[in-house]
Order: sequence, then C-alpha cells, then structure tokens
Amino acid sequence: MGMTEFDFNQVIDRHGTSAAKWAHATTDGGPPLLAMSIADMEIPAPDPVLKAMAERVEHGIFGYTMAGDAYLEAVAAWQMERHHHAISPEWVVTHHGVLPSLFQMIRAFLPSNSGVVVMTPAFPPLLDAITLNGHRVITSRLVRHGDSYAIDFEAFEEACRDQATRLFILCNPHNPTGRNFTEDELRHLASIAARYRVMVFADEIHGDLVLPPGRLVPFLSVCDGLDIEAMAANGLSKTMNLAGLGLSNIVIPSQGLRERFEDAVRRNGEWGVNPVSRAAALAGYAHCGAWLDALLDHIAGNMALVDDWCARELAGVVAVKTEATYLKWLDTTRTGLDEEDLMDRLVNSERLLVQAGSDFGVMARGFLRLNLACPRTMVTSALSRIARAIGPVAGRSNVATRP
Ligand SMILES: Cc1ncc(COP(=O)(O)O)c(C=O)c1O
Repeated sequence: MGMTEFDFNQVIDRHGTSAAKWAHATTDGGPPLLAMSIADMEIPAPDPVLKAMAERVEHGIFGYTMAGDAYLEAVAAWQMERHHHAISPEWVVTHHGVLPSLFQMIRAFLPSNSGVVVMTPAFPPLLDAITLNGHRVITSRLVRHGDSYAIDFEAFEEACRDQATRLFILCNPHNPTGRNFTEDELRHLASIAARYRVMVFADEIHGDLVLPPGRLVPFLSVCDGLDIEAMAANGLSKTMNLAGLGLSNIVIPSQGLRERFEDAVRRNGEWGVNPVSRAAALAGYAHCGAWLDALLDHIAGNMALVDDWCARELAGVVAVKTEATYLKWLDTTRTGLDEEDLMDRLVNSERLLVQAGSDFGVMARGFLRLNLACPRTMVTSALSRIARAIGPVAGRSNVATRP
C-alpha cells in the first residue's frame, strides 16, 4: 500500500463513550475484551466531517432543522460521483436510519401477514423487521460456491410466486457474506420481482464500501423500463462511521410511493433532521471522497491479511471472498469445534468478541463474522486469538505439508 495522508492505524479507546460494541467488553467483569463484532468502525470520521461538526456546535443554536435542498443535492451528487447513478434530489427522503425506514415502510405498506423475501444468511434486524410487525419471512438461500456465494434464482422466483409475498428486502452489498451483486444478478432479481409485482426495498447502506476494483450497481439503476415499485436506502453511517448520528436517505423515484412513505413518517410524529448530523454529512459528501478511497485500500489490506493468514496458518478456517463491506465472513466448520465451543473459547479464554454465524440463520452455524474496520494491529491480534482458540485441531491435518 502506498503512502497516504490518512492514518487508519491509530488505536482509539472507546471505553466510557457507551459504545454498543464495547459495552459487553466493560461489563462482563473479566480482562479487557477486543470487540470486533457490531458493524461500526474503530476509525474516526474524516477530518472535514469533524471540523464541520465542531463549527456547527460552535454556532450554538440547534433548533428544528430541515434537510433542505443543499443536502438533497449533495446526496444526488454523491450517487453520481461515486456510483455513476443519476437520481433526482426530489426522490430523496431523509430519515434517522435505514432500519427505522424499513420498519416504517413495512408497517405502512404491507397488509397483515404478508410474505417478505430475504436472502439468507441475513443481517438479523432485517428478519426482525418482518416478524416483529406480524409478517412471514420467506427465505431465499444464498448458495455457497467455493469461497463465495451465488443466488439461487429458482428459489427466489418460487419465493416471489407465493401469493402472500409483497416485499423483497435486498441487502446489497450483502451483510454478512460480503457479496457485491453484479449487474446481471440484480437485473435478474428485478425482473422476477417485477413479474410477480413484489415491491423491493434495497438496503444499500454498505454501498459505498465496495472494495477495489469493484463498483456498486445501484438497484434503482437496473429498474429502468420495468414496472416495479422500488426504493433504495443509503447514507454515510457505515461509509464514514456516523451511525450514531442517525441520518439516512431513502431514494424513492415513484412519486406515489414516496408520498405514501412521507405520510407514514409524518403519522409517526417524525420530522426534520439533527442539525449536527446534517452538517457532518454535508462535509462528508462534499470533501471526503479521497479519504474514502484511502479507507477502502486500508480495509482491502486488512481483508488480504486475513485471507492470507487463513490460507497459511489457520488450517480449517476458510475465508469467504469479500467483495464489499468491512465484514469478514469466516467458515470454521472444518476446525472440528462446534460454534458454541469456539465462541466460548474466543470470549472466555481469548477475550475476543465476534459475531456468531448462527445469529444470521441456522445455515450459518459454524461461521463467524469479524469486523475489520479497525487498525491493522487489531486484525493481527484477532488472528492470533482465533489461532489459539482453535489450537491444534483435526482440521490442520487436512493441509498438505510442504517441504
Ligand atoms: C445491512 C444493514 N442495514 C442496516 C443497518 C443499520 O442501518 P441504520 O443504522 O441506518 O439503521 C446495518 C448495520 O449494521 C446493516 O448492516
């Protein structure tokens, strides 16, 4: 990796900030834990964002604030610059998180006991959005192919054909597998959804985090010419580590659908944006493209380190290829340890906190998700801990010994 003006390797202590990821690390009474679980970064937001927030705080007045044209135009300009995706600023509705948007939309748009299609393994709150609102999850399994995953289009079509199916929640890039679906795959999904009149909510919160040399194909860009109801959610919460600021966008080209969504938000008594969050995002959109490019190189470096280590040292652990996101998906099923045993060793002996595969569905038992949005030293420390937790187990004998 070349010289960069950005430092992603400084370790910052988040204890005392009430950070969700580190809460367990401070309360379980044992020696300090290394938290590589919940999907936020151990890397500070870019300097222009911090500066804009400080200036906004300095102003001193934090009254009711609208997103405003400048913000909506910045969102559209970012989609064009980063993803070559033309959207109109009027299509953008702001909200205080992608999950609140999804939950809201489900409550407002779906008749009770609808079927909702989700690809599995799945980010658990996507399933909660369905079940907690009285609907039925219809799973469409991603199929493991070597070190990656593929869509089973027949199963997806079957799921959409179900009479009760009203909605497909697409997560692209995909958490936890790290897939960045191709234009062909997305077109195929869109055409099937359109054929069965299934609405699509495209969760593209990881969309800015496609690792080089890949690029995001925004779902709405493959909907041109299709009679389909679709919306896409994005924001800088993952991109620039602003999740706690609670500002996201939902892009809804159809005026009718957009008005229904805005109405649902209003009926919930919600209005406006947080002025400090708005200032942060405006600076992020305007000034932080180069920072993001450097961050993606740093994450790609962390990914490569884990891939390499798994191939050479952690026999039995298979690293799934990560095309996007800062989340590494590891298959530990060949180590000879079951998930509970491995998690127990990781947390209680090695003091490493990761996300267990079974959190993402039964088919993911024996996997683990490692958050690599962190300084390099945290990655190497995590790898040593995983190696010690697995120890000299049966899986190692699978590796051909070389002279
Ligand atoms: C796929 C996916 N959607 C949504 C979210 C959360 O988004 P927000 O904080 O905007 O609600 C996450 C966070 O991990 C995520 O991985």
